Amino acid sequence: MTAQGRFITFEGIDGSGKSTQARLLADHLRAEGHEVVLTREPGGSPGAEDIRKLVLEGERDRWSAETELLLFTAARRDHLERLIAPSVANGKVVICDRFADSTRMYQGLGRADLRGAVDQLHKLMIGREPDLTILIDMDSETGLERALSRGDGEERFESFGGDMQRRMRDGFLALASEFSDRFVVIDGGREIDDVAADVQRAVKGRL
Ligand code: ADP
Ligand code: TYD
Repeated sequence: MTAQGRFITFEGIDGSGKSTQARLLADHLRAEGHEVVLTREPGGSPGAEDIRKLVLEGERDRWSAETELLLFTAARRDHLERLIAPSVANGKVVICDRFADSTRMYQGLGRADLRGAVDQLHKLMIGREPDLTILIDMDSETGLERALSRGDGEERFESFGGDMQRRMRDGFLALASEFSDRFVVIDGGREIDDVAADVQRAVKGRL
């Protein structure tokens, strides 16, 4: 019998610990014998990684909110076509650091009120939701500090500042209520191992 593929995403504000927890979950599931694909957005396929550089580097007014929405959606379409959909179809567990919920937040709510356009474009070009979304929730000040301390040259979004981080945190919690069938909210303001244990528990019931 072939294993059933699964699509799991991590969401949350910058610096909340998504990448750390996605990696730990991938290690854990591999040790349990699952075939795991660990990936991220924007990016995850060669074309989408090229688009990543366009959207995350440079001046904050490099793109209008609308153009940015198109670029993120283009990157996601390529990632979905070339990596996510084929991997899930082959029975793998795909773990993705950010997906469409980030667009609902950052482009739909963050810079302009574009949620209607985000939803239309998603329906037309993506049309797929994760089986499970783990929201790593944490206070916005700590998140911003952690994100800026990385100094990785991808600060275009972080330069939008603390007020944006606060609105994003509230927005993600509202999104978790809107899509309560697939969201699990986990407190990210604790030791890494404690957060990871909760993530494992949330995933266990769904594999
Ligand atoms: P994100 O992917 O959400 O931006 P990261 O996983 O890259 O977050 O974490 C941001 C920074 O915070 C990294 O330097 C990471 O080592 C650190 N970090 C992650 N989780 C925790 C935690 N629970 N406690 C303290 N520091 C953490
Ligand atoms: P990411 O590399 O996950 O940053 P971090 O590790 O700091 O959380 O994502 C980079 C930025 O891209 C992040 O600030 C959120 C933004 N983003 C969007 O604005 N829209 C999207 O659709 C996605 C996937 C990310």
